[in-house]
Amino acid sequence: MIITLDGPAGVGKSSVSRALAEALKLNYIDTGAMYRGVAWAAREHGIDWKDEEGIAALLPTLNFSFQRVEGGSHLFLDDRDLEPLIRTPAISAGASAVGVLGAVREHLVMLQRVLGEQGDAILEGRDTGTVVFPQADHKFFLEASAEVRAQRRWAQLQEKGDSSTTVEELQAQIKVRDRQDSEREIAPLRCAEDAVRVDTSNRSFQNVVNSILSAVREKKS
Ligand code: DC
Repeated sequence: MIITLDGPAGVGKSSVSRALAEALKLNYIDTGAMYRGVAWAAREHGIDWKDEEGIAALLPTLNFSFQRVEGGSHLFLDDRDLEPLIRTPAISAGASAVGVLGAVREHLVMLQRVLGEQGDAILEGRDTGTVVFPQADHKFFLEASAEVRAQRRWAQLQEKGDSSTTVEELQAQIKVRDRQDSEREIAPLRCAEDAVRVDTSNRSFQNVVNSILSAVREKKS
């Protein structure tokens, strides 16, 4: 079984996917982590995020895998856990920048299909239901306004004791990524025609997870 879950930055795709993977015993493939991994590796090699040729030459040398760790699944490059390195604002911007490059998308989509076919899986990202697995068994598209997403992100940062960014700054960053992710030429962020839209704005996390679980179980039985 393949489930796809797409949506814009900060809508809660990762936490929802992790919960679904756990409940349904699926492999969890965080495709955004892979775009982040490419941005991180390019920076390590001193390659500009706009340099398609340079990045295209780097791609076949990158040995990515997802490995199970306490509390979930992390992206590894060879035997290095990239998770603590790829969640910074700079790498978020870099992932969005390398995501417009055809060479990057072609390579990562190929890897995502291989990973997805290794067993039952949930894939999460921007184009998993439209491009990577258009024939997926279940497709969902999460939505929430930029205001709500910025507010949630701000609350998460506050919890970690990080008061360095205001809600307004977070909202501006989210809007830039939304624009870049939905206006790019190749595989822009959009809801697949046959995906179920889930508006998470005024709903609790558990309520969202439960409604997706019911939809999956209903369709299966
Ligand atoms: O889901 P995320 O925030 O970790 O994704 C980071 C960036 O990677 C996102 O802004 C655009 C890019 N991305 C993409 O282009 N296609 C995907 N399937 C997933 C992410």
